[in-house]
Amino acid sequence: MNMSIPILVVSGQVYTVELLKRYIQECENFYFFADTHDFSKAYNAIKELEKVFVIVDISDYQEQALNFISKITSEFQHCRAAALSDRPDVDVLIRTMRVGASDFLSVPLIKEEVFEVLKKINNDLTDSRPKKSKCRIITVYSNKGGVGKTSIATNLALELSKITKENVALIDLNFQLGDVTTFLDLNPSFNISYMLQNLDKINENFLLSTLERYKDTSLYVLADPPYFKQIDNISSKDITRLFNILRDTFSYVVVDTSGGFDNSAMTALENSDLIFLVTIVNLPAIRNCQRCLELFDKLGFSSDKVQILINRYMENDEIKAEDVEEVLGKPLYWKIPNNYFTMMSAINKGVPVCEINHDSNVALSYKNLALMVSDSVFRQKFNNRS
Ligand SMILES: Nc1ncnc2c1ncn2[C@@H]1O[C@H](COP(=O)(O)OP(=O)(O)OP(=O)(O)O)[C@@H](O)[C@H]1O
Ligand SMILES: [Mg+2]
Repeated sequence: MNMSIPILVVSGQVYTVELLKRYIQECENFYFFADTHDFSKAYNAIKELEKVFVIVDISDYQEQALNFISKITSEFQHCRAAALSDRPDVDVLIRTMRVGASDFLSVPLIKEEVFEVLKKINNDLTDSRPKKSKCRIITVYSNKGGVGKTSIATNLALELSKITKENVALIDLNFQLGDVTTFLDLNPSFNISYMLQNLDKINENFLLSTLERYKDTSLYVLADPPYFKQIDNISSKDITRLFNILRDTFSYVVVDTSGGFDNSAMTALENSDLIFLVTIVNLPAIRNCQRCLELFDKLGFSSDKVQILINRYMENDEIKAEDVEEVLGKPLYWKIPNNYFTMMSAINKGVPVCEINHDSNVALSYKNLALMVSDSVFRQKFNNRS
C-alpha cells in the first residue's frame, strides 16, 4: 500500500509544474499525484483522497485561487495547501495565510524551501490519531415516493454497522415526513435541525454522545425535526458542513431522502460517494428512473457513483431484470426481493427486518447488500483512486 502523500499542483505554468514534479520525485514521503489548472477538477480530486497536499499557483487568478484555498482547507480536514506566486509581497502573503494556506512558496522556486515545506507537511499529515476507515456517504434516492427508500436506508445502515462494527450514521433528510424514527421506534432528543444550528459546536464526542444509538449497535440516528417550523433556513452550505463533520466521525453515513429534488436532497446527492437509485419493476417507475439517470448525468455524477437498486423484486415479474438493465443501459447493483408480510411486520413493530426473521429472503438480501457495500473489493476501487 502506498503510504506516501499525494501532491496535487494547481497551476497552468508548465515550467513550474515540471520543476515541482522533479523535486517531489526526490522525496520518499510524497508522490506527484496530478496537475491541473481547473479548480473544480482539483476540488473533485481532493474529495476522493484520504490526505493530500495541494500547491496552488495564485500568480494569475489570485482571487479565484485564494477562494479555492479557503474552500479546500475549511472543507477537508486531511488537506493542506500552500500558495505559490511569482509576485510575492507582504499583503499577498498575509491574505494567503488568512484563507488557510499553511505555507507560501515564491517563484522562482528554491529547492531547499520546497523541501522544508514538504518536511513540515509530512509531520503534520502523518499524525498518530486513531484511524478509521475513509467515510462513504451513501444516499438512498428515488424521485418516486413509496418505493422503499426508508426501508432500504434503515436496514442497510444497521447491517453495515453489524458487519463492520464501525460507527455508522443514518440521517433522515426527509424534513417534512421523515420515517426513520418510526421504522426504528426511536425518540431522539436531538434532531438534524438542532445539529444544523450548532455546527460550530459539534465534533466527534458531541455526535457520539448526542445522536440516538440503536440499541447496543454502532448505528447512530440523526432524525428529522419533529415540528415543521424547525425546518426554516436550512441552507445547502450548512448541510454540506454537517456532512463534512459526519465524515470525520463515521465510517458510513447512510442518507434517507424525500422523493423530490429539493435543496436538501440535491445537497445530499452531490456530497455522496454512492447513490442508490431505487426503483420497483413497473413501467412508470422505470421511466422515472431513466429520467433521473439523465439528470444525474447532466449534473456530472459519475456512472460508478450512481447504482441501481431494484426493490420488491419478483422472479416471475413480467418485466425481467435484464429488461430493466437494457432500458436503463446500466447493470443492476442489487435486487431486494418482495416480501410484504415481513416488511409490514417490521415497520409495524418499529424494528429492522432481521429482528422479525433474520433468515427471511429480505433480511438476507439487506445483509448481503451491506456485505457488498463494505466488501474489500469495493473499498479497493475507491482507495485506488486515492
Ligand atoms: N422488499 C419489500 N417487499 C415488500 N414490501 C416492501 C419492501 N420494501 C418496502 N416495502 C413496502 O413499501 C412501502 C413503502 O416503503 P418505504 O416507506 O420504505 O418507502 P419510501 O420510498 O421511503 O416512501 P416515501 O417516499 O413515502 O418516503 C412500505 O409499506 C413497505 O412495507
Ligand atoms: Mg421514506
